[in-house]
Amino acid sequence: MDKLKVNGPTTLSGEVMISKAKNAYLPLLAGCILASDKITFLEVPALRDIRTMHKLLEHLGMKIKEESIGTFSYHLDTLESHEAPYDLVKTMRASICVLGPLLGRFKKAKVSLPGGCAIGTRPIDLHLKNLEKMGAKITIEGGYVLAETEGLKGTKLTLDFPSVGATENLMMAAVLAEGETIIENAALEPEITDLGHFLQAMGADITGLDSKTIVIKGKPSMNGCTYTAIGDRIEAATYIIAGLMTGSEITVKGFKPEHIDAVIQKLSQMNAQMVVGKDFVKVIPSKLKASNIDTAPYPGFPTDVQAQILALATQAEGTSIITEHIFENRFMHVPELQRMGADITIKGNSAIVKGGAPLKGAPVMCTDLRASAALVLAGFCAEGVTEVQRIYHLDRGYEKLGKKFASLNATVTRVEE
Ligand code: UD1
Repeated sequence: MDKLKVNGPTTLSGEVMISKAKNAYLPLLAGCILASDKITFLEVPALRDIRTMHKLLEHLGMKIKEESIGTFSYHLDTLESHEAPYDLVKTMRASICVLGPLLGRFKKAKVSLPGGCAIGTRPIDLHLKNLEKMGAKITIEGGYVLAETEGLKGTKLTLDFPSVGATENLMMAAVLAEGETIIENAALEPEITDLGHFLQAMGADITGLDSKTIVIKGKPSMNGCTYTAIGDRIEAATYIIAGLMTGSEITVKGFKPEHIDAVIQKLSQMNAQMVVGKDFVKVIPSKLKASNIDTAPYPGFPTDVQAQILALATQAEGTSIITEHIFENRFMHVPELQRMGADITIKGNSAIVKGGAPLKGAPVMCTDLRASAALVLAGFCAEGVTEVQRIYHLDRGYEKLGKKFASLNATVTRVEE
């Protein structure tokens, strides 16, 4: 298994271009199942999760062609299988996004239950309950969700919690359903709006994007289109935090800062000096101060940036209390950061971080995608070499992370084993 060697302490400099968002492209890829004609996506990031979704779609019978670097075309004419097998789903929970489109267009789907994952149990009850309300018959058998319908029908759906994945699945199910679907308490994440814009480009009738009530009037078919996803706000936040915690001056480009408003506001409270443009953030060396952080659904502070800001809190003056409200087991980076010398105590779903304890390089292990990023960032602030093991987690969601940090003058070496 490959590992990353991170040399510290280091100061970064220069500019970095953010890739298009993995969490936008994954549901968009599932959405290609809905179209009768060819879909083309531009600037698709070279990531393991994208390759996993490609494998899943090819398994269903989709023809995928790389037209040029990062440009892919997708066409599903004849369904060869309606099954999302366990081997693919277990490595990537977002595979569940094929359920809604398969039911919508082909009226049947067999999708492995995602099961537990490193950051919690993550059930899919909200997806299933609401698809049933739309007329799907669902049973669970042998670890699989078996779903079929004589035709989905629009109705009023209310999510008990604004789940990102459930909102996406239901939107995709609704575009080919008969009549009007109203999704209340929908998630507000920018990736939901991006999916809405993509579905509109395919001919869907959707109103209420960017609000908690999304209304979709079903159509008989979806056409092809060419589309580019939004920039990756989580990747951007990761590089901004890397710049701040190393006292660097860097510019992070190619995304919309308004998509991480909660992160920028919190960093400002922590005394971070930044120039915020329309599509970039420039980070200026700052003396960081502690703050309390609570994760929440969008527009709140994203759970996907919790691990990175926790790493930053180790470098801020004072004590920060970081509370995780979205996933129940999302502090697995903490024992690894403790091994590097960080002063962190876990109490329930809060991490109490006393900033200023000197970090020392150590062998550490990646446990999930964002936790892994936090370890790399901590490595930049630690004395000596930090060996980050199991970096396949990073490969899932950070395009060319080693190369991008190297271009910012960090010494990051990938060791192939
Ligand atoms: C998506 C993101 C992930 C991010 C998360 C929260 C993708 C591919 N992944 O994940 O990076 O961390 O949003 O912003 O976009 N829940 C239920 N029942 C359900 C569905 C969810 O109880 O049917 C719970 C989950 O266990 C979790 C919370 O709701 O505690 C949030 O989950 P959800 O918003 O669905 O996250 P994902 O779509 O899985």
